[in-house]
Amino acid sequence: MSSEVIVHPTRRALAESIAARLLEHIEAAVRTRGRADICLTGGSLGSELITALVDNPRKDDVDWAAVHLWWGDERYLPAGDADRNDTQNDEAGLRSLPLRPEYVHRVPGPDEVDSAEESARTYAATVRSDGSGRFDVVLLGVGPDGHCASLFPRHPAQRITDAIAVAVHDSPKPPPDRVSLTYEALSRSGEVWFVVTGADKAQAVAAALAPGADPWEVPAAGPHGEDVTRWLIDEDAAGALSGS
Ligand code: 6PG
Repeated sequence: MSSEVIVHPTRRALAESIAARLLEHIEAAVRTRGRADICLTGGSLGSELITALVDNPRKDDVDWAAVHLWWGDERYLPAGDADRNDTQNDEAGLRSLPLRPEYVHRVPGPDEVDSAEESARTYAATVRSDGSGRFDVVLLGVGPDGHCASLFPRHPAQRITDAIAVAVHDSPKPPPDRVSLTYEALSRSGEVWFVVTGADKAQAVAAALAPGADPWEVPAAGPHGEDVTRWLIDEDAAGALSGS
């Protein structure tokens, strides 16, 4: 298990580079094992990289019918709500890709289930039944407080470890009710990519990458890829790393 930090000069260059890298990984996974399992992230960069992917001509080389999409977390809101991560990804261009709707594994909202707990159980069951045992790539944004997915600093949802997905209440960032994969589930991936831009994230990036960082305080220190963990960041987000 290794960590790699790759710094790009600008946010746009970063989004384009992540998109190109993701297309390569999707193609390789489909070629070698007949499917790709990609776990997407919300956040503004999570959507910007989808726009960059849709704008990349190499997307036409991908067999999208073999691609399964997942989300590392979701806001517990009805399908199509403008504040859901999947809606924002859709609007950024995801819906223009020829994906199989049944392979786009959305986290159920209050229009489908009665509680965030039921949503987490249902989503976990789908990961078990329709997943392939591990993701190829998990993408994760990071907040200025060091959160990733919907795992927040010193939040009790972090302590639930015997589950694939957990309900999160009283999130410090609105909306308060969410569903998140656990560290364990996020780490069941060949690669985990943290995708981060902006000077307001520089301290969180440095804290997550510090030796011995404690996920309880800095959740982005929690997930690790089985093969590699990559930090794909811009110069501003790299500003507090030693050597920058
Ligand atoms: C959420 C967001 C959040 C986001 C990070 C990074 O559910 O509140 O999805 O987790 O991924 O805060 O966001 P930016 O890419 O906009 O900086």
